[in-house]
Amino acid sequence: MKRKKKNQEIIIEDISNTAPDLVSGEPVGFETSEKSERISTNTAPDLVSGDDNIVIDMKHIIKRYFIGQPNELEVLHGVDMQVRRGEFVAIVGQSGSGKSTLMNVIGALDRPTEGEYTLDGVDMFNAKDKDLSAIRCKKIGFVFQTYNLVARTSALKNVELPMLYAGLSGRARSRKAKELLEMVDMTERMHHQPDELSGGQKQRVAIARAMANDPAIILADEPTGALDSHTGRLIMDIFHRLHEEQGKTIILITHSPELASECTRILTLKDGLFIDEKKGSGRNAVL
Ligand SMILES: Nc1ncnc2c1ncn2[C@@H]1O[C@H](COP(=O)(O)OP(=O)(O)OP(=O)(O)O)[C@@H](O)[C@H]1O
Ligand SMILES: [Mg+2]
Repeated sequence: MKRKKKNQEIIIEDISNTAPDLVSGEPVGFETSEKSERISTNTAPDLVSGDDNIVIDMKHIIKRYFIGQPNELEVLHGVDMQVRRGEFVAIVGQSGSGKSTLMNVIGALDRPTEGEYTLDGVDMFNAKDKDLSAIRCKKIGFVFQTYNLVARTSALKNVELPMLYAGLSGRARSRKAKELLEMVDMTERMHHQPDELSGGQKQRVAIARAMANDPAIILADEPTGALDSHTGRLIMDIFHRLHEEQGKTIILITHSPELASECTRILTLKDGLFIDEKKGSGRNAVL
């Protein structure tokens, strides 16, 4: 029983949570089953269709890039993926395996070429661009390796930005942004611009910004990739807090086996297909 919310979505110009606007015009995919410890094929287990707890439901997602006729590059070959509300899922895999491509599809920054994709009850494959923008704004918080903060703009204003797109008043934006910056221990530096902040500080601001519209899902593409291990640890701990204390659904791409193992589930992507799924051992199991 999938909820039909598409027509109820608020239409907003754009959301971006400050994701690079890649939206071009086709769809993607991946796979999972909550019950099995390991999966070795990309056949969707489909154990949970109709389950309201499924927040991401992808079936046979294919993503091809057209790189000039007659060439095309198929990056995702039919990925199935289901994520339940409140999961903390790690996606691992070699460089070029399609992780970011998949994440961009999950986050509606790009469309799959073929497949089915439902995000929190909304049919994403058939959604119009303006609807995808609204969905990104309301439901998804993005965190990138390169932070993607707006230059020459204070941390406070960066965090306020998604709320501006969502139509909040100036006072409400400022209040919420300050709360979020306090959550990531950035109160003292909130009036500084990105080029006056360290990498770890920038990432904390980016996480606060990702939380601005209280998204159901946080998508983090190598958020610790540019940080030293100590700072990466601090960033990972913020994600754990968001997961444990606020029940956020988080999908994390990482090259770190240690960080991946702390998630509730670890999916391995290889050459555009999921080849493995494992249960994570939880926050304190490693390190
Ligand atoms: N816009 C694009 N046009 C054409 N090919 C692309 C495009 N984006 C990505 N690719 C190709 O798709 C493949 C997968 O790229 P992707 O960025 O998803 O890999 P990744 O797993 O995230 O790698 P990394 O760990 O290095 O970030 C690569 O071969 C890449 O060159
Ligand atoms: Mg990548």
